[in-house]
Amino acid sequence: MTSLQVKAPAKVNLVLQVMHKRQDGYHALKTVMHTLELADEVLLTPRRGGLRVTCDHPEVPAGPENLAYRAAEALAEAYGKRPDVHIHIRKRIPPAAGLGGGSSDAAAVLRGLASWWRIKEKKKLLAIARSLGSDVPFFLYGGCALGTGRGEIIHPWPAVPGILMAVLNPGFPVATAEVYNKFRLGLTRKKACINMMRLAVREKNPGKIGEKLRNDLEKVTASLYPHIGEMKADLLACGASAVLMSGSGPSVFGFLPSARIAKSVLGRLQGKYPTVLLTKTSNRLHFNIF
Ligand code: C5P
Repeated sequence: MTSLQVKAPAKVNLVLQVMHKRQDGYHALKTVMHTLELADEVLLTPRRGGLRVTCDHPEVPAGPENLAYRAAEALAEAYGKRPDVHIHIRKRIPPAAGLGGGSSDAAAVLRGLASWWRIKEKKKLLAIARSLGSDVPFFLYGGCALGTGRGEIIHPWPAVPGILMAVLNPGFPVATAEVYNKFRLGLTRKKACINMMRLAVREKNPGKIGEKLRNDLEKVTASLYPHIGEMKADLLACGASAVLMSGSGPSVFGFLPSARIAKSVLGRLQGKYPTVLLTKTSNRLHFNIF
């Protein structure tokens, strides 16, 4: 077996609606996610003597604490394989940022090892992905999808690739569990939101998609960190047409109507925030089982 390089894209949540708190402590969601061209690179290299995980980012744990390690372990165990592999993660996605980086790395390991080991059972792979985290199943598909349940039940939608956007990150991590803990259900209108986004996505209309952006967790994270409101205001002042926090934050993204506005974002905001990235929405992943 030769080495394999697998792309692990970031995602943004175009909609994240919290429906209610479940008996098991998780929150029932309706969330629309889209992958980005921004991606980590996951390198799988055969090695003797078991599993090893390394990463070029100082804040990302190597070894068993990394979700990618647990992904390889879980797949190997389910199929009676020896995980004789070195996993190296070249980190491009800011960690603990609401962009799904850790979940995407884990899914990239599942996709890579599944092709190495010629695994073709979609249901079993999805079950392993679900056991690793709510966001992991989405990254077996990529593109655009509605997530229900705790976000782990995936309903693929047509992708809308090529939407130009800026992603800002203030450089500190946010604990997802803490944000969900502080979330209180309000009397918000819930029904139409997903349907309107579905129409906008079906039309592949970035303007309409931008009008329908919504994230119920934004209020919580913004009340903890004023940076969220500031980053959104900065993106709007540069000419972004729509802005939102992604996931439980703290990353914020903005749709950019032109290359000129993208240039202005870089010129005005690079230096102010640790991460200022330009990227685009991306297509479905090439993964023959899905
Ligand atoms: O599934 P995952 O391990 O990524 O979730 C991290 C934490 O976020 C959970 O332990 C839970 O506290 C919270 N969460 C939630 N409802 C969801 C997803 C995550 O309450 N739908």
